[in-house]
Parts: sequence; structure tokens; C-alpha cells
Amino acid sequence: MPEIARVGVCGCGLMGSGIAQVAATSGCDVVILEAVQSALDRGMAGIKKSLDRFVEKGSMHAADRDAVLGRIKTTTNLKDLAKSDLVIEAVVENMDVKKELFKELDLLLAPHAIICSNTSSLCVVEMAAATKRPKQVAGLHFFNPVPLMKLVEVVKTIVTDQTTIDSLFAFAKKLGKTAILAQDTPGFIVNRLLVPYLLYAIRVFEAGLASREDIDEGMKLGCGHPMGPLTLLDFVGLDTTYYIAEIMFDEFKDPMMAPPPLLKRMVLAGQHGRKSGKGFYDYGA
Ligand code: 3HC
Repeated sequence: MPEIARVGVCGCGLMGSGIAQVAATSGCDVVILEAVQSALDRGMAGIKKSLDRFVEKGSMHAADRDAVLGRIKTTTNLKDLAKSDLVIEAVVENMDVKKELFKELDLLLAPHAIICSNTSSLCVVEMAAATKRPKQVAGLHFFNPVPLMKLVEVVKTIVTDQTTIDSLFAFAKKLGKTAILAQDTPGFIVNRLLVPYLLYAIRVFEAGLASREDIDEGMKLGCGHPMGPLTLLDFVGLDTTYYIAEIMFDEFKDPMMAPPPLLKRMVLAGQHGRKSGKGFYDYGA
């Protein structure tokens, strides 16, 4: 089983930049691909800010931060990912975009390379089918904020081979994460449990059963969660949650997974949570 040393990351948003950061921190050489330079600049600024926080806290030396940054290259040209042992895709949650990317990566990469998606809910085997190496395609689902959350879901499709799964478990360990094995069903393990819970919190709020603050305080102090559900919804993004819920409802037809009317209306109004300045709470400009 060859060690994964060179990692390509497609997409430099919140997830892509976090994945690039933890891969480079573990010693991998990383190339991040984005469509435009401004997105790369934004993502790199986020990586630097996160690494600076570790340095300020004393959990990382300044020289190590600089070495991590030195291991990350950015590009707008897909060909620069050609030498990767592993490419992790974290682009927009759109199946057609992902399938096209997987097809191009399959043509570009060396035969041993593995291609993964960080999708939270889309069908991974559909992406695998766009390649001629479906056995070397899997899901690798990270959690926000990637530098802090210890979990990675390794998603095995019905055709992923065991060597690929073993390599991904070894890679997750190298990143300092704990991997769990999930099947290729919408929401995998964590979102399958988390999303109905978050949607139910919206229903409780929508029905006027409690204030948003009391719902959040209840779950924080009563169950020891680090964030209450409405704060977590703002953190994850209401648009993202709505999208995942739609995919899960479409597949399972389980009313627990149906997006509540209030969520739909908040998304339509542009209230996407922390990133838009407003969700269940206000975050200013
Ligand atoms: N990089 C480096 N350090 C960071 C950081 C980052 N990106 N974000 C926060 N920190 C540090 C802060 O500097 C702070 O350090 P300190 O303790 O030395 O002051 C520490 O982490 C704690 O941060 P905060 O004080 O700002 O806030 P919290 O104590 O609430 O911790 C949290 C923040 C770790 C995000 C915590 O609230 C938490 O675990 N929340 C739950 C997150 C969660 O559930 N994520 C999963 C979402 S679901 C998902 O991602 C799946 C997808 O498919 C939808």
C-alpha cells in the first residue's frame, strides 16, 4: 500500500482550504485548484489565520507554520494536480460539475492515484462511474472546522476496493483524525443523524415552543453539545443544510428529513447563517 504523500485538493472554500491545511500540516505536499485566483487568495488567507491561531496558542511553532504554508501550492490549472497520489474534491455540491471533474482527473492522474469526494450527501458511486478506476474512488467526508474536528468518514461505495479503503484510513491517521467507515447512502453516518435533529430544532422554533436562545441553551447545557442546534445551523450554513435535507428526503422519503417551511423561506431570503451575516442570529456585516 503506497503512502499518500502528494495531495491535490479541488476547491478552496471552507472545506477545501481546511482539508489542504490539515494535509500540509501532516507533511504532505499539497496543490489546491480553484477556478479563479481570488478564491485561492481568500482560502489561503483563511489557512494562514487558522495556523496563526495555533501559533498564538502555543500548539505550533512559527517555523512549523511557515513550513506548512511552504508545502501548499495553488493553481487554476488542473494539470498541476497530475502528480497527486490522492485528489480530494471539495467543489460545489453539483453532481454534473463533480462528474466532469472526476472524468478529467481520471485521464490526468497516475494509475495508482485515488480520487475522493468530500460530498456530504451526493451519491459517490455516480462520481466513480464517470471514471475508469471506480475501485479507487471513495468519499472522504471532513467536518467543519476541519483543523479542529477529529472525525473523517471514509465512504465505501459498492465497488470501492479494500486497498483504497486501507490507504484512506492510513491517510486519516496521518492527519491526526479518527476515521469511521460509512456506506454510500445520503448523509452517511453523521449527517443521517445530525440533519433530522437540526431540522427538528427548526420545527420546535417554528411552532413557537421555545425561544431560539432556550433551544440552544437546552441542548448545550442539557446534553453537553458545544453549540446549540440553531447556532450550529448558522455555522454549517442554512443553504447547505437545506440542500442536504432535500437530497436525503428525495432518497428516503422520510418526513423527518423534509426541510421545514421556515428553513426554505430563510434560504430564499438569503439568510444563510454566519457567512451571510444573518441566520437564526445576527452576525453584523
Ligand atoms: N483554526 C484554528 N483554531 C480555531 C479554529 C480554526 N478554524 N476555529 C476555532 N479555533 C480555536 C479558537 O481560537 C479557540 O481557541 P482557544 O480555546 O485557545 O481560545 C478554540 O478553537 C475554541 O473556539 P471558540 O472559542 O471560538 O468557540 P468554541 O469554544 O465554541 O469552539 C468549535 C468552536 C470547535 C467550532 C465548537 O463550537 C464546536 O465543536 N462546535 C460544533 C461544530 C460541529 O458540530 N461541526 C460539525 C458540523 S457538521 C459538518 O461539518 C458536516 C457537513 O457535511 C455539514
